[in-house]
Amino acid sequence: MCGIIGYVGNKSAVPIILDGLKRLEYRGYDSAGIAVMNEQGFGVVKQKGRLASLEQLVNQQPIAGTIGIGHTRWATHGEPSDINSHPHLGSQNKIAIVHNGIIENYLQIKERLEQKGINFVSQTDSEVVAQLAEHYYDGGIVDTVVRTVNALEGSYALGIMCLDEPEKLIAVKKDNPLIIGVSDYGCFIASDVPAILPHTNKVYYLNDREIAVLTRSKVEFFNMDGEPIEKELEVVNWTLDSAEKGGYEHFMLKEIMEQPKILQDTIHSAIHGDNARIVESLDITKYNKIVITACGSAYNAGMVAKYVFERLCRVSVEVELASEFRYKDPIIDKNTLVILVSQSGETADTIAAMREAKRRGAVTLSIINVVGSTIAKETDYTIYTMAGPEIAVATTKAFSAQLVLLYILAIAFARKLGRISPEVEAKLLAEISAIPEKAAEILERVDMIQKYAATCIGCKSIFFIGRNIDYAISMEGSLKLKEISYIHSEAYAGGELKHGTISLIEDNTMVVAVSCCERLYEKIYSNVEQVISRGAKVLMIGSCIKASPHGKLQIIEIPRINELFSPSLSVIVLQLFAYYVAANKGLDIDKPRNLAKSVTVE
Ligand code: AGP
Repeated sequence: MCGIIGYVGNKSAVPIILDGLKRLEYRGYDSAGIAVMNEQGFGVVKQKGRLASLEQLVNQQPIAGTIGIGHTRWATHGEPSDINSHPHLGSQNKIAIVHNGIIENYLQIKERLEQKGINFVSQTDSEVVAQLAEHYYDGGIVDTVVRTVNALEGSYALGIMCLDEPEKLIAVKKDNPLIIGVSDYGCFIASDVPAILPHTNKVYYLNDREIAVLTRSKVEFFNMDGEPIEKELEVVNWTLDSAEKGGYEHFMLKEIMEQPKILQDTIHSAIHGDNARIVESLDITKYNKIVITACGSAYNAGMVAKYVFERLCRVSVEVELASEFRYKDPIIDKNTLVILVSQSGETADTIAAMREAKRRGAVTLSIINVVGSTIAKETDYTIYTMAGPEIAVATTKAFSAQLVLLYILAIAFARKLGRISPEVEAKLLAEISAIPEKAAEILERVDMIQKYAATCIGCKSIFFIGRNIDYAISMEGSLKLKEISYIHSEAYAGGELKHGTISLIEDNTMVVAVSCCERLYEKIYSNVEQVISRGAKVLMIGSCIKASPHGKLQIIEIPRINELFSPSLSVIVLQLFAYYVAANKGLDIDKPRNLAKSVTVE
């Protein structure tokens, strides 16, 4: 979704803002722009299209200043166009803003302001913020911001500059992320940490409806009554390297390759570190129901977890799409534990599901990658995936870290519920501790996967099948493939084929079959034979495959592991398969069309 960056300091703002925008590109965008403030007023350059052309335009029409705001726009209201790009200015050119979010009552505000003779130039909801702030401005920017945001309904992260207060950069947020960074040479606002990592790792996390006033050397915070408040400066442990490609062609490949280390860090934290302490403090015996809710890949992690929790804890687990959860009148109460899974911690649907769960009295536990994010802050308990910044839109390392946290959670719950003995617990944890090494073994076989993927680029459709937990992870394999390769794909439970899907199988239809559940091997293999006899070519991925490869059947073996934890290994092959299919098609893998890394609107 939209990205915001802003800077005030003693350096030239434009290169800092352009660099920050590049680091926000992964959020997804269709247009971009910059505004700087100087003695002459605002210098604004903005246009539809990629950042490379914005950079060219800035070179042709240089703008200068040491205070400025930048924006990457992912259109919601008004088509992607030069005029709808941010920053937006009030009609007297006194206030400039960048906005991420949706102003739901913008039409009413716009109508009111138009009746007062104010002319709007764009079709966006965001322009009302600039016009309204300018209309309200009476010499005090904090009061103006309070008045303005009090009139807004919806969600916003805003960067604001006012010509009459040329030293100040203002930030305010509600239901959209915005952080504040401080360095020796100035202060920053940004939608997320990677955008400012070259300058600082010292950040303030802004809460909803808090206002920050940044000047060259300090940041002051205010509440909605305009009163000063204190906030704690935090040090982020992400490094600049972790947010750069480091020689890889794409972030996605780099992030896939980082998985052994990330798995190790996450497992360590969940068995011996901070996460372990949080898991221990949660008394699972108090709850009679577990609901996992999330979106996209995080939902798929929940689907995998359902099998693990139910098998180990013998407690029924419901997995709900967060986008559906709040509209289904969920049957939850204070005896329900609702687990929210989210890489970003800012997904609008997952935030809404969390708030619905809390409203109904449920206890909430989140599994989050981004420290300081909304979900992390608002849930009763939070455990963190130790994945570092994930830049590629297609999640890989964060997904893998979510899986291992969910396994360890299930084991801890099973022990607390008296379902497993300490010996079994130790054995299961030992198997989990072996995952990073086994993941590294798979990563040594990249060439084989790459070669196979090259034969699939012409496919119109690819089906993924599996049974039981293999079916759950097939869903992730299918999502990964379609989001980056643009090849149609579906995941089916192997046994469901004969109930309809098999009619789609014809000569050379590609089917990927995951087979790590040894006890179900014969079953999935018979599904494989059924599709091969109808002309399909099949790639089997698994640790218990007894068949030999032949013309229509190729096999990728993965190391043996308890079937409950096998998704952590099969998913690496599925990720690499999707990556190489897309790479062979020459696609923009890190920023697939129409997608955004963090979906902050409903
Ligand atoms: C995964 O590859 C996707 N890009 C997407 O499905 C993602 O998992 C989903 O939007 C949820 O995001 P979150 O984990 O940040 O909440």
